[in-house]
Amino acid sequence: MQRTKVKELLTGAEVGKEVLLKGWVRTKRGNKFVNFIAVNDGSTIHNLQVVADAEKFPEETLKDITTGASVAVTGELVASQGKGQAYEVVANTIEVIGKADPEAYPLQKKAHSLEFLREIAHLRFRTNTFGAVFRVRNTLAFAVHKFFNEKGFVYMHTPIITASDAEGAGEMFRVTTLDPINPPLTEDGQVNYEEDFFGRATNLTVSGQLEGELAAMAFSDIYTFGPTFRAENSNTTRHLAEFWMIEPEMAFYDLKMNADLAEDFIKYIIREAIEKNRDDIEFLGQRLVEEDKTRPQNERQEMTLMEKLEFVVNNDFERVTYTEAIDILVNSPAYKKKKFQYEVSWGVDLQSEHERYLVEKHFKKPVIVTDYPKDIKAFYMRLNDDGKTVAAMDILAPGIGEIVGGSQREERLDLLVERMKGVGIEEEALWWYLDTRRFGGCPHAGFGLGFERLVQFVTGMGNIRDVIPFPRTPQNAEF
Ligand code: 4AD
Ligand code: MG
Repeated sequence: MQRTKVKELLTGAEVGKEVLLKGWVRTKRGNKFVNFIAVNDGSTIHNLQVVADAEKFPEETLKDITTGASVAVTGELVASQGKGQAYEVVANTIEVIGKADPEAYPLQKKAHSLEFLREIAHLRFRTNTFGAVFRVRNTLAFAVHKFFNEKGFVYMHTPIITASDAEGAGEMFRVTTLDPINPPLTEDGQVNYEEDFFGRATNLTVSGQLEGELAAMAFSDIYTFGPTFRAENSNTTRHLAEFWMIEPEMAFYDLKMNADLAEDFIKYIIREAIEKNRDDIEFLGQRLVEEDKTRPQNERQEMTLMEKLEFVVNNDFERVTYTEAIDILVNSPAYKKKKFQYEVSWGVDLQSEHERYLVEKHFKKPVIVTDYPKDIKAFYMRLNDDGKTVAAMDILAPGIGEIVGGSQREERLDLLVERMKGVGIEEEALWWYLDTRRFGGCPHAGFGLGFERLVQFVTGMGNIRDVIPFPRTPQNAEF
């Protein structure tokens, strides 16, 4: 017999028929006469209730049906007599495929803390919360490809090992096969990377952008979607050492077109999640409501998770320049009451407390901040006519802060070379990048969306470690 997934069974399409289902036991309850077994196979947040008459099954079998065990069940799908589910399966046969010793199995019926579940990340997929989070993540990932594919963008695989530092921030993981105890040295005592695997020093990429730009100069519109790595020692709820980034790059786009695309893109993929994962999002929203009950009234969320997502999808993002954002901050009650820990003045980078003030307190919606001072942004961003700012854009999201970073690129060779000199990047190191400005260069723009930050936004999860299956953070690479 062919197995049917729980999600499909719960539509009731096969009611009255003999079905086969396989999955993991969430709970078992009952009495001398009858057992109710909740089975989940990950296809939906909902369990399927299996009704097992005690006299039909040997005590041995029933004893092995414990939380976490895997089972195969055949039986008739019927409309449920009980509350809580529309359909259930009246079991004819039950096979325990893999037992889970209740004395040893760490996941029990009670609610576990997210911190504890992080320590057993290999099992946390089996909880309602993580089931919901990773089904949403899946929908969002698929929607990324759908969005760009529909728009005729070419999906480009940019390298993971590279010799360049796209962001120029120096936060890279070295990739080497040299012996760390006894590396070959140059005459002046430095490690001689010419003898390394690639004949030069290499690292894990911090961004696929530079290579993406090369491809955009042929395909017009491309995007990357891959892992990126940053060796920044930030132990925050928004930073990972290994995270996934989506980086579209478009020829003949200016900053405004770039911002329009980013806004459309974010709305599109959130809309997909609202449509495909309504039950998961409702469940995650309920979690937040429960969490909120432990907080004082004035700190509670004004909207449920679903309301927040629908609001974002149905309203325009706010757009302000960096200069306007600084004005807003300096004139804010928070500033006057000295609530900000970090300095605010024209020229400083916005800290997350400032970003969150703008989106959560002032505008109460996503904000696109443009035209930052050139000195706090990467070398490739296009210099504005004022000579002080660049055509940069960051998108800030409520509860998260920066979710997108992007810009129009500097397509003018002389200005680009000058910027590179200013920040100490050698022309020779990026000769291939500069060639695109020499041969058929054109105005172009792009951005990077931090995928985990988006998943955080859509699921309402407070810690970025809870939206990637196996987080990589300082001092942590278990699993
Ligand atoms: O702002 P960033 O550094 O921009 C770039 O890398 C550009 N090359 C993108 C481009 O224009 N093609 O990073 C882009 C986004 C950030 O806005 C943030 O959402 C995410 O990547 N991000 C991180 N997410 C998780 N952990 C980290 N350590 C992150 N660093 C950046
Ligand atoms: Mg950034």
